[in-house]
Amino acid sequence: MRTKLPERGRSHTAIIDEMRAMKHGDADWQHGRVPLFYFKADDAVYEIGKAGFFEYFSENALGATRAYPSVKRMETEVIDMALDLFGAPADAQGFMTTGGTESIVTAIQACRDWSRKQRGSAQHRGNIVASETAHPAFNKGAKLMDLEVRRAPVGPDLRMDLAAIEALIDDDTIMLVGSAPNFSYGMIDPIAALGAIAERRAVWLHVDACVGGYLAPFVRMIGRAIPDFDFRVPGVSSLSADLHKFGFCPKPSSTVLYRTADKARFQFFDETVWPNGRFLTPTIVGTRPAGGIAGAWATLQFLGVEGYQRIARELMAFVDAYRAGIGAIPGLKILGAPDLSIVAYGSDEFDVFRVAEIMAEKGWLPGLVQRPKGIHRMMSLVHAPVLQEYLDDVRAAVGVVRQSGPATSGIRATY
Ligand SMILES: Cc1ncc(COP(=O)(O)O)c(C=O)c1O
Repeated sequence: MRTKLPERGRSHTAIIDEMRAMKHGDADWQHGRVPLFYFKADDAVYEIGKAGFFEYFSENALGATRAYPSVKRMETEVIDMALDLFGAPADAQGFMTTGGTESIVTAIQACRDWSRKQRGSAQHRGNIVASETAHPAFNKGAKLMDLEVRRAPVGPDLRMDLAAIEALIDDDTIMLVGSAPNFSYGMIDPIAALGAIAERRAVWLHVDACVGGYLAPFVRMIGRAIPDFDFRVPGVSSLSADLHKFGFCPKPSSTVLYRTADKARFQFFDETVWPNGRFLTPTIVGTRPAGGIAGAWATLQFLGVEGYQRIARELMAFVDAYRAGIGAIPGLKILGAPDLSIVAYGSDEFDVFRVAEIMAEKGWLPGLVQRPKGIHRMMSLVHAPVLQEYLDDVRAAVGVVRQSGPATSGIRATY
């Protein structure tokens, strides 16, 4: 039955009460039972992001240049801070978008149009070469723009296979993709080697640092080994990094950055086709929430380098404990060599999806990877307080699976 617009408006209280009641059916993400979708640092960071967002709840960032200099200023400053963090040269430029997907799609579009200009061919149909672990947003962008995506399988160590990548490059390749890290196994691709290939083959390299971009630099600052992944690698043309993930800023907020102004300018949509004059925007969306920009600006100001380092220290200590706990459960092993806080584990002994099924019955929403089969968790500090409870439940579930003999799971991996 289709829901109808109520004949008469309802009271504020009745509406909010109904929403709160509806929420009871949702997964318990506030207590770390959801292994993706949500990122938390601590309550104070959450509160400043929320305050910043609601300070600009009504302003429309589409009008930032003409109507809201304050929004423009915050956007410019957020981009400046991002360019600085990622080692971008003086000529670099960037934009804020509504998320990783928009940052990736706009980078693909800028790359396509830049490449067409270089080739002097407005119709050229290019291809994008990526590892199988690259986010599906690259296929989404390619679908929108009628481009081809070629995905190379990873090696036995689950790392990007550079030889397989290079074998897919041909004269029509316009973009190489590296992830920092990839969502699949939480590993940072060999960006320096990829950058060398990009330079040698004269192809645009996009680094998708959507999920790790605002964590990796601080993890490095606290003394952990993080391979070069940003504009410090000479072959990198563009980079996406999401503030609304490990930047711990409110949604929606992401950044997309270009090494040169010449490349960045291809992101703009600039039209005078209609009666109202020039329509110039760097984003796919028109109207966009200024709250996302203000919330991000406020969070960055609140935390500063010191605050992000503190979170990186706490988070990585928790991830170490998590990895040790999983490693201590007989039959389980970590998949690949995760660099940050995305960790997947599997088993050579039994079907690990059966463990996920038992965990789901206990209220742990399963995050799964299907090649090889693994239980996948993207962890922030919301998961830390329930570490022991989680490990106890995994240990018990593994015990059940090992005792019950061979059987296959019915559960399927879905993002
Ligand atoms: C590596 C990577 N790239 C891109 C995205 C897409 O980001 P969004 O969901 O904000 O569009 C994600 C989302 O998790 C991601 O992990």
